[in-house]
This record gives sequence, structure tokens and C-alpha cells, in this order.
Amino acid sequence: MKILGIESSCDESAAAVVEDGRRILSNVIASQVSLHARYGGVVPEVASRRHLESLLPVIEEAMAEAGCGWNDLAAIAVTVGPGLSGSLLVGLNTAKAISFARDLPLVAVSHLEAHIYANWLDGEGSGAQPPRFPLLALIVSGGHSDLLVMEDHGRYRLLGRTRDDAAGEAFDKVARLLGLGFPGGPAIERVSTGVSVGRGLSQRLPRAVLRGSYDFSFSGLKTAVLRLAREYGEDLPRAEIAAAFQEAVVEALVAKTARAAREERVTEIVVSGGVAANRLLRETLAKRAPVPVRLPPPILCTDNAAMVGACGYFRFRRGERAGLDQDVLSGLGLPQPYSPRPVPRRSPAIRRFPR
Ligand code: KG4
Ligand code: ZN
Repeated sequence: MKILGIESSCDESAAAVVEDGRRILSNVIASQVSLHARYGGVVPEVASRRHLESLLPVIEEAMAEAGCGWNDLAAIAVTVGPGLSGSLLVGLNTAKAISFARDLPLVAVSHLEAHIYANWLDGEGSGAQPPRFPLLALIVSGGHSDLLVMEDHGRYRLLGRTRDDAAGEAFDKVARLLGLGFPGGPAIERVSTGVSVGRGLSQRLPRAVLRGSYDFSFSGLKTAVLRLAREYGEDLPRAEIAAAFQEAVVEALVAKTARAAREERVTEIVVSGGVAANRLLRETLAKRAPVPVRLPPPILCTDNAAMVGACGYFRFRRGERAGLDQDVLSGLGLPQPYSPRPVPRRSPAIRRFPR
């Protein structure tokens, strides 16, 4: 069963064709990173305008690469939230138009849930077993740092989340502070490679423990880096500070994930989201986790539509369908249900001139 996935929640216009929720037939991503780099972050209005230009060619390419015609598709899965409303609208309205014109079922997908499903994709067709429940899911992206138990498809129990900045957001803000550019995660990883962190510097960067909770907090760490940057001024040891920061974030994520896996007696851990591309996080988790850890290849950690197609497949199989009244849900979280918001039936206050 082939599903076309469409993703436009932030700064990637992406489309993919996925078979049976696992096999990637095509995965096309048009990234806007260079467009936003000069602003040091994603500019919502600029992002939605670019989605308008990119999305149709990206979808056409994904269909062609998969050797797929509209009649070969079982459904269209599209991200409806969370994300930037203007960007989400471009993807959702495109998906609705195709669904209407080609009489194809529409499936609404949460971007967060889709990130988890990147772990179901078996790009190279290795024949590896799919994840087994109950599992622990760590989602670490630019907007979220969530720790959840997934008991079955569509059944989530939230254990913890960030109380302030998301892990990726902290990477981006600290990289900006250190003058390392955007996006911050890859920039910090690059300058940190091969740098060993001295004890003195490491001790000056706090790890928020938040005892008795699975929540994370990264804003104290960010402020500590700001203080260090001011103290050093011109002689700022950028690479050392970046490496110490990366180590502190990884430490916090790994400690809570490993403890949750032990206490919740899960079968395995699945990690996803842009920060899951980080090599230190991948290596440290693999070493310290009490159960097997599954990580998608880096290209499937950051935003893509193959994960939307995979997630959409399992929702479609459960009979879930979205109507043409489906709205974008920019603040959508997990495990919230994502039913369409009722459309207000108020009549607008019309005034006629001249009276
Ligand atoms: O999942 P994603 O592509 O978009 C969101 O859903 O937010 O995640 C983007 C985030 C950015 O904050 C970026 O700096 C971070 O993931 N990121 C990384 C790495 N690659 C991307 N963080 C640390 N190390 C990386 N290698
Ligand atoms: Zn994402």
C-alpha cells in the first residue's frame, strides 16, 4: 500500500512515497536553510512563501522517482501540526486539493508522531524487525524535547518534556551566541569534533536535574554560556565552550532516557528529531541505555516526508480519515487527539456603504 507523505511545518518542503509504512520509494526534501541563515533563524512569512514555490515541484519529483501515478496511491498523509501556521497551511491545502481532485483519502498527521515513525522506515530494505512495544520514545527537535512511552500504535503516555527551550532550540541559540551560524546543531557538532572538554569549563555549565521528574530544562545552560561569553570577550574559546555545551545537553538527555527505560521496563528506545542526528548523543545513548536503542539515519532524523508517509500508513490502516474541513493545529502535542477544530458558524459583521 503506497502513501504520499507531505511535510511543510517549518523550513523544509518535502514529499515522499512510502510503501506499507516501511519502504521508502522516494524521499525529496527542498531545504530552506540557506534562505533563513542570514536572519539567524526561520522567518515564518519567508518560509510559507518559499513553500508555495517549492512544494508542487517537490511532490512531482517524489511521484516520478517512485515511478508512481495517482492511481497507485492508497492515500495522502499530511502534517497538520505542530509548526508554523502559514507553512502548515501550504502543505495541508495542497494535500486537500490533490485529495479532492484525485478522489484520494486524506490522513492528518502530527509532526511529532511522524518523527517517532522515522524509526519504522527501513530505507535500505535490510529486513530489520520493526520496533516492538512498549517502547520509550525520545523526540528531540527544534521545537520539542519529549519523553513518551508508546504502548501501541497511536497510544502514548507522556513522561516528560522541556520546561523551557527545546534541545535543538538551545543548540541554535548557543550557536548564535558563539557566532557559529544557523542551524546551530550541526555547527556546534562540527567545531566540537576532537575537542576535549576541561573539567573547569564543564563544571561551569549546569545540568538541570529536576529531581523526581522526567522533564528537561536547558535555559539555565544557555544563560551560563552567555555569562561565559561575556566574561571571555574577545578571547572566547568557541570550540571548547561549544563542546562543553554539547556534552551537557547530551548528558541531560541520556540520563533521563536511560532512567525512564529502566523504570518503565520498555523493550527498546527509539530516538528521533533533528538533534538525534548528533553523533555524541547517538554514541552515548548506545553505550548507556539499558535496552537496545534505535536511531534513524541522520537524513531521517531532521524534517522529511517519509516519516509522515510511515505515520500516515498506520493511521490509515486504523481507519482514520481527515475531511476537507481539517484545519492546521500549530500547537498540537502528543498524546493529544488531532480532530479538526470546529469551524465557527458566526456570520461576519457586514456593513454596507453607502447606507
Ligand atoms: O526535527 P528538525 O529538523 O525540525 C524540527 O521539527 O524542529 O530539528 C531541527 C533541530 C534544529 O534545532 C537543529 O539545530 C537541530 O535539530 N540539529 C542538531 C543536529 N542536526 C540538527 N542538533 C545537534 N546536532 C546535530 N547534528
Ligand atoms: Zn521536525
